Amino acid sequence: MQEYLIAFGREPEFTITELAATARRFALPLQWRLVGKTVGLVTGELSEKFLDALAGTVKVAEVLTEVKVSKEEIVSFLSSQLEQTERCEFGLSWYGPKPPRWLMPVGLSIKNQLKNESRHVRYVTSRTPVLSSVVVKKNKLLPPTGYEFFLLPEGDKIIIGRTIWVQDFEAWSQRDYGRPARDARVGMLPPKLARIMINLAEAREGAGILDPFCGSGTVLQEAAILGYRHLVGVDADSNGVTRTRENFVWLKKQYQQIPEPALMVADISRLPTVLNNSTYDAIVTEPYLGPPLRGRENINRLEQIRQELTEFYKNTIKVLSLMVKPGGRIVMVWPVLQAGKEYLPLPLINEIKLHGLELVEMLPKQIPNGWRNNRGTLWYARPDARVIREIVVLQKQ
Ligand SMILES: C[S@@+](CC[C@H](N)C(=O)[O-])C[C@H]1O[C@@H](n2cnc3c(N)ncnc32)[C@H](O)[C@@H]1O
Repeated sequence: MQEYLIAFGREPEFTITELAATARRFALPLQWRLVGKTVGLVTGELSEKFLDALAGTVKVAEVLTEVKVSKEEIVSFLSSQLEQTERCEFGLSWYGPKPPRWLMPVGLSIKNQLKNESRHVRYVTSRTPVLSSVVVKKNKLLPPTGYEFFLLPEGDKIIIGRTIWVQDFEAWSQRDYGRPARDARVGMLPPKLARIMINLAEAREGAGILDPFCGSGTVLQEAAILGYRHLVGVDADSNGVTRTRENFVWLKKQYQQIPEPALMVADISRLPTVLNNSTYDAIVTEPYLGPPLRGRENINRLEQIRQELTEFYKNTIKVLSLMVKPGGRIVMVWPVLQAGKEYLPLPLINEIKLHGLELVEMLPKQIPNGWRNNRGTLWYARPDARVIREIVVLQKQ
């Protein structure tokens, strides 16, 4: 069985949880363990389709070997890898805590050795010990012709891999910033988070997916790219629905086989009367997150907002529980307010049981306790955000 090194994104617990959920959906048995805080070592068969479905994985390398920490051994192994090709481009990425002094000399020794054999060789470096996906892609360091060696120290050894896949950063950025209809006032879900949320729903092919707070359509857009065909979007604001529609016109020009979502203007309270109940395999959504905050609100004001949001979310959860099929999942954002250093999550965990829903704890068991919160959910915080997004996965009994 092939071993792979997986470089995590900015939120490792999201990368890991998404990987585990998506592997279940693809029926891929994966064994894995963590190496440090930023890399996972996975054993299994990873197809390109599986990797392209992921949002939280940045880079994947095939494990080639394990060597002792010795400059000579590393130079000899890496040079042997580059032997086959007349011309080659290569780079080194160091995934340990601190890059060793010999890292740059290793690259230069290999380059000089190959040059002495009159081969065309280019050694790609950057200011950081890890080459970014952008550097890897733009400098053609991917197979079949290029090489990025992924160096991961563990104990007195170094695991060496060859990068085979990097995230399509251009496509992600285009879908985030390049789509025509955006509304920063309402707040848009980052496309990667939308994709991860869909993957956490583990919905089968052909599933019906509903976003009842669709806004500019980020969730529906990512679901469409993943191949889901039965998409329904609703928003109380007709401008939201119009933005989703415009974004889908654009999306169809960028990708093949993008389906037409069914779109409708309706308040969440009206959903049970305008859509068929118990119909959706998955509801993936980011509801209203509360009024814009300036960061200067006092605790009384924040408590008042929290109470209003709690009422709104109680009603929303009740409605969603009517729309989802038995066994289906609701993957949703709950806002967490911040009062200075204190967090104010919504007190909804007990509420969900009243509606035949159960919280699904998604983070795999092997993950250390320090990475979990005591609510069984995942928290997504942008560095300067005033509202944290709590990602909650609920299953209908
Ligand atoms: C945070 S935004 C969702 C943004 C969306 N995820 C996106 O990426 O564009 C919340 C959306 O909920 C809608 N909304 C607010 N209150 C609503 C209600 N009572 N019923 C239905 N939609 C509502 C807003 O119009 C807004 O588009």
